[in-house]
Amino acid sequence: MKPAPQTFHVKSFGCQMNVYDGERMAELMAAQGLRATDDAASADLVVLNTCHIRERATEKVYSDIGRIRKDAGKAGRAPMIAVAGCVAQAEGEEIVRRAKVDVVVGPQSYHNLPALVADAAAGLAALDTEMPLLSKFGALPARRRVGPSAFLTVQEGCDKFCTYCVVPYTRGAEISRPFAAIVDEAKALVDAGAREITLLGQNVNAWSDDGGPAGSRGLHDLIRTLDRIPGLARIRYTTSHPNDMTQGLIDAHGDVESLMPFLHLPVQSGSTRILKAMNRSHGRDDYLRLLDRVRAVRPDIALSGDFIVGFPGETEADFAETLSLVDAVGYAQAFSFKYSARPGTPAAAMAGAVPPEVMDDRLQRLQAALNRDQHAFNLASVGRTCSLLIERRGKLPGQMLGKSPWLQSVHLIGDHAIGDLVSVTLAAAGPNSLTGAANIAVAA
Ligand code: SAH
Ligand code: SF4
Ligand code: F3S
Repeated sequence: MKPAPQTFHVKSFGCQMNVYDGERMAELMAAQGLRATDDAASADLVVLNTCHIRERATEKVYSDIGRIRKDAGKAGRAPMIAVAGCVAQAEGEEIVRRAKVDVVVGPQSYHNLPALVADAAAGLAALDTEMPLLSKFGALPARRRVGPSAFLTVQEGCDKFCTYCVVPYTRGAEISRPFAAIVDEAKALVDAGAREITLLGQNVNAWSDDGGPAGSRGLHDLIRTLDRIPGLARIRYTTSHPNDMTQGLIDAHGDVESLMPFLHLPVQSGSTRILKAMNRSHGRDDYLRLLDRVRAVRPDIALSGDFIVGFPGETEADFAETLSLVDAVGYAQAFSFKYSARPGTPAAAMAGAVPPEVMDDRLQRLQAALNRDQHAFNLASVGRTCSLLIERRGKLPGQMLGKSPWLQSVHLIGDHAIGDLVSVTLAAAGPNSLTGAANIAVAA
């Protein structure tokens, strides 16, 4: 038994949806009267909001638990530890056995966290990995103060079952939050200080308002409605699946001014043969043609993607097709990973494992190409005039840091406040960031 906690610390790993869930859990615990602390080792309750996507992410949970216990132990403390997120969902009972944590709560049931913490304090088992039919969102407290750029989960889960991926198992089936609940939360976020909202979902462009009687609305309808919220200057969305990229959404990129010219559209591989083995249900050419359609309505769009190297059976020729796809697209930024076999997924049982040193070599070559293109995209932006959303202070005196419409980090010297939208001219570019000079007028 441990005393009921007075202070808490939430640490999130993995994707933006986990960041969002982490914020909501923090709001939930604060509404119970617990105080947030920045330092895990001094908190009475530590919530680890975990990611299961690759083996290394999962193992990190166990090393983190050990480190938190050790640091807290030096100060004679034994914090209550709650494991939330996708590892909790996938390995619930194993975590309790292996790490003797106090609470385990899955991504669809974290609205029950306060009750589970109370159970743990009373010495009871506290594990909840249910995927209830009624969504957790209705049971969460209202949003509090947020920064200028806020996340808003609109869709969860995945029905795509790519053969390498755990998400359909850890997050469950695709569900969309109701239109009205999303619009209300967006308004609350703007009232709480947000100027930019990023709509989140594992397949965010699969969002549909299936609650309405007159046929379903798609993500573009939602975006067009949010566009009319006074004070909301920027809308983004992530992550999208190529097969859910409707003409309506593409068109929105052409004429919704607050929809930022940025599209994260993972492709994973440039080889149609490998895409088939991955069960991506799109080929290389489908993807390239789709990007042509997006560029036709929004020529300056910044493209981003995800890649996996070393999927079972990937040959040097397949990998060469990934490199040539990268050359053809010219990504503004991208994420790339070595394939990690995940227990229970179909790919984990496939023949043709790629040796680790081959994966290392391919990842290096791919990242060199992606870094080159990112730098080239930044260099090509020099001279552009655009808005900058100021997000935080920089390291140098008087320096502020903001984001361009194309999601680039831009440094700026000047007397600007966090949350300001400043009109700038991009003046110089490095591989990872740019510098800008403010134009005289402040843009709305
Ligand atoms: N729903 C999103 C993101 C899923 S997870 C999508 O489909 O795009 C984020 C990224 O992690 C994936 O796009 C993929 O590139 C990577 N990933 C997923 N499973 C993986 C695995 N088993 N090994 C390596 N990378 C993986
Ligand atoms: Fe995973 Fe594929 Fe679903 Fe993305 S679309 S979450 S990669 S199964
Ligand atoms: Fe990781 Fe779960 Fe997100 S596995 S990437 S935290 S959906």
